Amino acid sequence: MEHRPVLWQECLEALNVRSGGIYIDCTLGGGGHGIKILEGSSPDGRLIGIDRDPEAIEAARQRLAPFGSRAILINGNLRHLEALMEKAVIDGVDGVLLDLGISTLQLKAPERGFGFQVDAPLDMRMNRREPGITAQDIVNREEGESLGKILLTYGEEKRWRAIAKAIVRAREKKPIQTTRELAMIIEKSLPGARRYKIHPATRAFQALRIAVNDELNALREGLKAAVKLLRIGGRLCVISFHSLEDRIVKQYFQQMARGCTCPPRLAVCACGQSPLLKIVSRGAIRPAPEEVRANPASRSARLRITEKLGGG
Ligand SMILES: C[S@@+](CC[C@H](N)C(=O)[O-])C[C@H]1O[C@@H](n2cnc3c(N)ncnc32)[C@H](O)[C@@H]1O
Repeated sequence: MEHRPVLWQECLEALNVRSGGIYIDCTLGGGGHGIKILEGSSPDGRLIGIDRDPEAIEAARQRLAPFGSRAILINGNLRHLEALMEKAVIDGVDGVLLDLGISTLQLKAPERGFGFQVDAPLDMRMNRREPGITAQDIVNREEGESLGKILLTYGEEKRWRAIAKAIVRAREKKPIQTTRELAMIIEKSLPGARRYKIHPATRAFQALRIAVNDELNALREGLKAAVKLLRIGGRLCVISFHSLEDRIVKQYFQQMARGCTCPPRLAVCACGQSPLLKIVSRGAIRPAPEEVRANPASRSARLRITEKLGGG
């Protein structure tokens, strides 16, 4: 079946994709949006596709091969966007897309440890070739209170205390090594868990993934760099899948659209800063019911769009 990138028509429209344009897809993944951008900007538009996962870049390289030199693929982290573009000698672009989170390819690769449907080592690193902590390191080494705070902060998990306690108890007997082991520990720690609408381990897995990959800081830094790289009139589109990400995007857009950073109690502006962005979409755009029916994974997606005004 054809891979249907989330909200792709809305993104193409929002990015004003046209021939001759230069676009960055900072989260290339399987290349779904990237291909649509290349098709929409033919015959000579260019796409710079970035992903921190080298395995995603390798897979996308094959899918994007028919577009030849119009597609430039780079393995790197969104948080280093400015440096990556300097290296690629790109100093201004017409549009930037961020489709956050993990791809279906990553979620479904059992050895990556992102999901708990199959048993796999608790890894969750988006780039397995870089040294860095894994989810296994966090669940086995983090002190109880701080483990609980990770579940609360990154998973908005209300039952963080009970889960953290259960994890600490379990690991005293033997280290927790796999996704199913962890999911079972969480399930058992929550009375009535079987009646929850989502699996009781869902929020904890989200929290661990965000912590392992430092996703929220990468997003904060990536947003700033993306705005800098946009040409005046260029558009930035961000698709997020949970409220933590969406809040960061919304607040950043609002702050940049306000310009003035003076405290509200000042009657007259003293900072003299002018707005850098215009918010294009009032509120977040959600997928239509038909898209959610065809692709249930799109149900929590929220798209926000902004346009560069000047300065920067
Ligand atoms: C939801 S998927 C993108 C799917 C893609 N739009 C498509 O249509 O196939 C998100 C991708 O972003 C990548 N990613 C997440 N955080 C990143 C970051 N900070 N820098 C670069 N890539 C990142 C992930 O590795 C994953 O491949």
